[in-house]
Amino acid sequence: MSRIMVRGGNRLEGTVEVSGSKNSTLPIMAACLLSSKPCVLNRVPDIEDIRVMEGVLRELGAGVERYGDTLVIDGSSVDSWELSDDLTRKMRASNLVMGALIGRFGCARVAYPGGCAIGSRPMDLHIKGFHKLGCEVYEAHGYMEAKSQGLNGCEILLDFPSVGATENIMMAAARAKGVTVIRNAAREPEIVDLQNFLNRMGARIRGTGLGTIRIEGVGELGGVTYDVIPDRIEAGTFMVAAGITRGDIVLENVVSEHLEPIIAKLKETGVEIMKCNGGLRVLGKRPLRPVDLKTLPFPGFPTDMQPQMMALLSLAQGTSMIVETVFENRFMHVDELRRMGADIAIEGRAAIIKGKPHLTGAVVEATDLRAGAALVLAALRAEGETFIGNAHHIYRGYEDIENKLKQLGAEIFRVD
Ligand code: UD1
Repeated sequence: MSRIMVRGGNRLEGTVEVSGSKNSTLPIMAACLLSSKPCVLNRVPDIEDIRVMEGVLRELGAGVERYGDTLVIDGSSVDSWELSDDLTRKMRASNLVMGALIGRFGCARVAYPGGCAIGSRPMDLHIKGFHKLGCEVYEAHGYMEAKSQGLNGCEILLDFPSVGATENIMMAAARAKGVTVIRNAAREPEIVDLQNFLNRMGARIRGTGLGTIRIEGVGELGGVTYDVIPDRIEAGTFMVAAGITRGDIVLENVVSEHLEPIIAKLKETGVEIMKCNGGLRVLGKRPLRPVDLKTLPFPGFPTDMQPQMMALLSLAQGTSMIVETVFENRFMHVDELRRMGADIAIEGRAAIIKGKPHLTGAVVEATDLRAGAALVLAALRAEGETFIGNAHHIYRGYEDIENKLKQLGAEIFRVD
């Protein structure tokens, strides 16, 4: 089991290049299955979740080759529509192949992803969407099995703007007969990226980013070369690193519109953020002001930045409140932050954070990816050494995190 050790107290300074987006790359990799022509993806981050998705595509028979940050995916050899429990349990997002398999072959059998540390995460919205498109969907023996004699365009109203359900339905509908309209669709930048990728393949999709998506199905999709967007959550994590260490960090490879909800909240705490040579400069200031925030689907504040923001607010001058509305159980990092001296109380879906002047290094455990990121951030500012166990959660989503932070002046080491 790998651990990360951080010796806190250093002010972070310098330039960091943000990697390609994990949450864009995963559905785009799945979408490559929609075509029998090879696709080339650039700016793919070298992280564990992407390696799991590579394994998923290979299990289905696709060819997958990596050259640096480029992935070449050849869907011509796909000969299976079934994904076993082993892979879906490793990573929930492997369920994204379901929409693509249904779109290309009209059928798919995928094991239920199971629960995870941050909530139960059902698949009902995905299944309702597939059903509306004309699939019979059976749920038995831990699998979801979809079969259709031909997909037909339809109107789908999502009860909640689920990111994964929107992506899965978009992929299946891209090759359905006729027009599909998804209302109350997720509006995240990663959905827009998936639309752009699919349209480059020859799909006819518009409206992503606005809440209603219109997909005119096409018979075939081709192969393309595509650059994925920068990772807004990695960018946000480095922005908090600047704020928490009173640092001065320039972020390269960012799209500032994608970061607006994060920038707005960080500015409220007193962190200064300005555009700089096509990137963003983030200047940490003291004292940090307390803020209240609620996680919401985009363009609201992202749930994937909630734990990192909580680490920052643990050091603010005053009391903040965070309400988590997207996931039912996303406060697993609270006990670990408390071990480091944070004063946080939980009331249902709300966390009340009384800022303290100092945190202290401790032995803590990463319970999931973003919880782990929050612990690294707290450790950067804590007095003494922090050992973060279960660091594999962090490597799922952050490329080369130790080196990127080291180059900014952090004392951080991987301890295997
Ligand atoms: C994606 C992101 C994840 C992020 C989340 C919310 C990827 C690979 N992952 O996850 O990092 O935290 O969006 O921004 O892009 N729900 C249902 N029924 C469903 C589907 C979802 O009730 O059929 C609920 C979930 O339990 C959860 C909420 O909707 O409470 C949000 O889930 P969703 O938007 O689907 O997140 P993911 O796509 O799993």
